[in-house]
Amino acid sequence: MTTFVAEPYGGGLNGRIRVPGDKSVSHRALLLAARAAGRSRLAGLSTGEDVLCTLRAMDQFGAGISRDSDGSLLVDGGLERLGEPESLVDVGNSGTAIRLLTGWATGVDGLAVLAGDASIARRPMDRVTEPLRLMGARIDGRQGGRLPPLVVRGGGLTGIDYRLPVPSAQVKGAVLLAGLTADGETTVREDVPTRIHTEEMLARCGADIRILPGAVTVRPGPLQALDLQVPGDPSQAAFWIVAACVTPGSDVTVEHIYVGPGRAGFLDVLTRMGADLQILDKDGASSTATIRARYGPLTATFVGGGEVPALIDEIPALAVAAAYAAGSTTFSDAAELRVKESDRIATMVTALRSVGVDAEELTDGLVVQGSDGRPLRGGLIDSAGDHRVAMAMAVAALAASAPVTVSGWEAVATSYPGFEEEYRRCGS
Ligand code: S3P
Repeated sequence: MTTFVAEPYGGGLNGRIRVPGDKSVSHRALLLAARAAGRSRLAGLSTGEDVLCTLRAMDQFGAGISRDSDGSLLVDGGLERLGEPESLVDVGNSGTAIRLLTGWATGVDGLAVLAGDASIARRPMDRVTEPLRLMGARIDGRQGGRLPPLVVRGGGLTGIDYRLPVPSAQVKGAVLLAGLTADGETTVREDVPTRIHTEEMLARCGADIRILPGAVTVRPGPLQALDLQVPGDPSQAAFWIVAACVTPGSDVTVEHIYVGPGRAGFLDVLTRMGADLQILDKDGASSTATIRARYGPLTATFVGGGEVPALIDEIPALAVAAAYAAGSTTFSDAAELRVKESDRIATMVTALRSVGVDAEELTDGLVVQGSDGRPLRGGLIDSAGDHRVAMAMAVAALAASAPVTVSGWEAVATSYPGFEEEYRRCGS
């Protein structure tokens, strides 16, 4: 286990930052490129271990993977190239990889065994195995298909009309990917909007898809190869933006991040808290923008209801903003946090308390009492193997009076291997 001693930065955080390519987009780009006929070019993919797992999986299923001289990934795909992997497919720590792959693998003839690390072994898979079985998929797994490893035998699918019981872009994506080889049409309905990457990218590949508010329908058919520049990851940008908001003297610009539907809710919350944010270079076609964030006083807010899916991954970072704000911030309707890489409600509350914050668990969220800009006291925290908790607590250190020592720091590599280097580069 590695440890990172996150030091307070008296002079604040300054400069321009480019975050890695968006993780959600990167997983889907690889899955669709492997399925599409011909050669796809993917530039700026996430370099985290999660996405590397999906990349290795595509190689195991038979896609051709190479690098162009400019570093872009070239994927030679097509359904006829794909077949059963010879060995177990290891998804590492990635819930997105295993859930999307389960749907995707139902379209490939043969058997695939999907497994991951100890955290993955605890994460609920019935949310994907249930709708996929309704489509006729042959899937097994521990506890009747509720937990990984999962065993998927491809083929024999029929389209369904499915309403998501929990707002989940992973489930929507898994069912839509399965729909690509199902007989007839597959519709996924959602009451609360979730990120739209699967449908956006299927449309880009020329899939037979109809996107309406609250419902997406896909029919089987060929996919065209992709030529994609992956935009920056807003979930990683959130750490730097919150860092700038809470650390006196900071002025940070995070370039070219995805701000499309379902991903930019954290910016609305920070704006409500009074953060000094500027949205620059907004580009509607690519749904990207550059965000400038400067230090300033923050006030508490309430986060809950339909806005939660659009900021679920940013709650650890937002909880740090809340820890420095004036007043008490409540995060509710976020029970999903209990089944992320860790029980993120418990892990964040324990971590915040360890640095002197008055924080409390709710069944479906947490309450954070802010310090009104006073430095937190520093301390020792455990990431519990959760990359977002580790990075959020490193951000909390920036304006603390003493270092925050984060154990289990290696978890950061699952999504943001360059985080520590950037942390040192931008600080003073
Ligand atoms: C993701 C969807 C979200 C999110 C996860 C990535 C995706 O999970 O928390 O980090 O890429 O589809 P759910 O689909 O479970 O809400």
